[in-house]
Amino acid sequence: MSKPNVVVLTGAGISAESGLKTFRDNNGLWEEHRVEEVATPEAFARNPDLVYRFYNLRRQALLSGQVQPNAAHHALVQLEQYLGGRFTLVTQNVDDLHQRAGSKRLLPMHGELLKARCCRTDKLMLLKGELDRANHCRCCEPPSSMRPHIVWFGEMPLYMDEIYEALWQADIFVAIGTSGTVYPAAGLVAEANRNGAHTLELNLESSDSDFKEKRRGRASELVPDWVNEILELR
Ligand code: APR
Repeated sequence: MSKPNVVVLTGAGISAESGLKTFRDNNGLWEEHRVEEVATPEAFARNPDLVYRFYNLRRQALLSGQVQPNAAHHALVQLEQYLGGRFTLVTQNVDDLHQRAGSKRLLPMHGELLKARCCRTDKLMLLKGELDRANHCRCCEPPSSMRPHIVWFGEMPLYMDEIYEALWQADIFVAIGTSGTVYPAAGLVAEANRNGAHTLELNLESSDSDFKEKRRGRASELVPDWVNEILELR
């Protein structure tokens, strides 16, 4: 049997069992702020220290060494190794767990927590420690301030051309651990349905989105099981 073309979209739920909080569980509150209130360009202009702190705490969690990829991240690497160019992993997550597990064909559409960028030129910098007002770029004169390399509400996600191109060829579209509430990511399932792909949701709770198949459970169990099904088609 020929190998299928697969596009996978992941959200915060795939990293939950690694110990990272999702956005909308616990009412989606972060230290009494709605995530939409700290993750906007307006919030950064209004209160940059609060926004820096929000992302510094999340960055520390990754750098502490206590957060590790789980069985779901590892299973997706196994699938990529089997499917090669027929596999695309799109993630809304800004953590580095897919990268650390070994995923290569990865499109982090909402940015990456371990990168910062120049507020003037958008030039990217790898970030090992905290980001605050004291950090300046090395690309401008005078040096400009830096912002988290995160796509905020109201900003255009990254890699949209590559994502749609992969979707047009997809036989299977799978969304893992995402509530399907933030667009354009939440609209990818409709596009995949229009293109005739099989659409599958692997999530703790069933979302309102229109998937042809929904499986409920923990990502660390559902994802390895589903990957094994694909590998067994060999
Ligand atoms: N296994 C599978 N699914 C899980 C697990 C688990 N162990 N734990 C939680 N989930 C599910 C929840 O039921 C929920 O549907 O993961 C989903 C997480 O949803 P959100 O918190 O809304 O996260 P996400 O969909 O990734 O959010 C999208 O919103 O704030 C923005 O930019 C941010 O990328 C983020 C975007």
